[in-house]
Amino acid sequence: MEAVMNDTAKVVLDGQEYELPVVTGSEGEKAIDITKFRGSTGYITLDSGYKNTGATKSAITFLDGEKGVLRYRGYPIEQLAEKSTFLEVAYLLIYGKLPTTEQLTGFSTNISRHTLVHEDMKRFYEAYPSKAHPMGVLASMVSALSTFYPESQKPNRPIEAIDLTIVRLLAKLPTLAAWSYKNSQGHPVIYPKNSYNYCQNFLHMMFAMPTEEYELDPVVVKALDQLLILHADHEQNCSASTVRIVGSSHANLYSSISAGVIALWGPLHGGANQAVIEMLKMIRNDGGNLQKWVDKAKDKNDEFRMMGFGHRVYKNMDPRARIIKKACDDILNKLGVVDPVLDIAKKLEEVALKDEYFVSRKLYPNVDFYSGIIYRALGIPTNMFTVMFALGRLPGWIAQWKEMIENKEPIGRPRQIYVGENERNYPG
Ligand code: ACO
Repeated sequence: MEAVMNDTAKVVLDGQEYELPVVTGSEGEKAIDITKFRGSTGYITLDSGYKNTGATKSAITFLDGEKGVLRYRGYPIEQLAEKSTFLEVAYLLIYGKLPTTEQLTGFSTNISRHTLVHEDMKRFYEAYPSKAHPMGVLASMVSALSTFYPESQKPNRPIEAIDLTIVRLLAKLPTLAAWSYKNSQGHPVIYPKNSYNYCQNFLHMMFAMPTEEYELDPVVVKALDQLLILHADHEQNCSASTVRIVGSSHANLYSSISAGVIALWGPLHGGANQAVIEMLKMIRNDGGNLQKWVDKAKDKNDEFRMMGFGHRVYKNMDPRARIIKKACDDILNKLGVVDPVLDIAKKLEEVALKDEYFVSRKLYPNVDFYSGIIYRALGIPTNMFTVMFALGRLPGWIAQWKEMIENKEPIGRPRQIYVGENERNYPG
């Protein structure tokens, strides 16, 4: 489906009127097309943080932040989370339609066959300090993949070469992620097992030891698969935009994804899931006075922010948070886990949602508010939470990169309003 141009907007500058095309998307979203604005007027538009700037026309994910709607390729997230699998969703996002049974089998088998990483890459792990954050390790290992597959750097590669890079990324990211964790523990790495499905294999590489098999629990495997689906894409967020902008210089896909991993790491983005658990533990250790922390979050002179609350786009409950909150209760029940941090989270949500500050700013819990509690129940250590997010987000990043390349989008290069010193002479 193409965006329609059937209207115009008028801008008056210095007494002169200019007409700008209005673009309408398939869900009725409207934008003023300013591509030629500077050329005809000499003005640029200013929008720090791109809060109101459409950087692209995209057919991958639709979200309506006012109504709390999220759809991948038109399918509601609620239906995908309930009925689909992560690899099926990955195929959907990347190739635009649900795979046939045969296509899905081929895709999954192909991924299983590429899970090993070059033995030389294993040596890199030995050089990282044991305290290295797994996100830092993951980003550099993903970028290092490009050095092992130099053909991925050629522009105008045939489509089969791009497909192979996509399969390699999906196959190797769990291996690299699990090995980052093993490295942080000082434990030997565990090799992938092709007979396992995607999530089983990841859990096996995370938790098995050379001395002991890891017993797979179907509840844990299913919960992980669902979490990955919920994180799989979220249109033009910080990391997806990073992947698109890095890729727009025709940097290779591995390096573009590596940049996405780094963008995701920040606590205002994917790093929030780790920050939420650290915050909840801090509140508990401080005696559990919730009002005190809500007041601190409201105080503009206090740097404390309520992690896991607020979202650039959702001004209503994040639909993923709604699904995760319910999944959280189910999983903790099924696994028989009692987590005092969950109680604090629920009470904190209750207090915050009644508070005028949060209500008037439409600050609701986001996807990261409850995901960390599930990860804890699944046995995933806190410093791996954002890595889990990266595993889930990978198909979205790939889809965003592929769309940008296929649309032949120009190199990303914003403008600025210069507010520095005027020309002055170097002293002496
Ligand atoms: N705690 C306290 N106040 C907040 C919070 C919060 N978590 N989030 C927003 N606000 C306030 C802001 O101070 C601002 O108040 P003001 O209007 O009085 O100045 C108002 O709400 C609007 O917030 P902005 O920061 O302008 O919103 P923005 O869209 O720039 O930021 C963000 C969105 C970064 C997600 C922000 O809400 C935040 O920092 N949240 C905490 C971190 C977090 O959970 N990040 C995960 C996001 S989901 C994801 O990326 C996967």
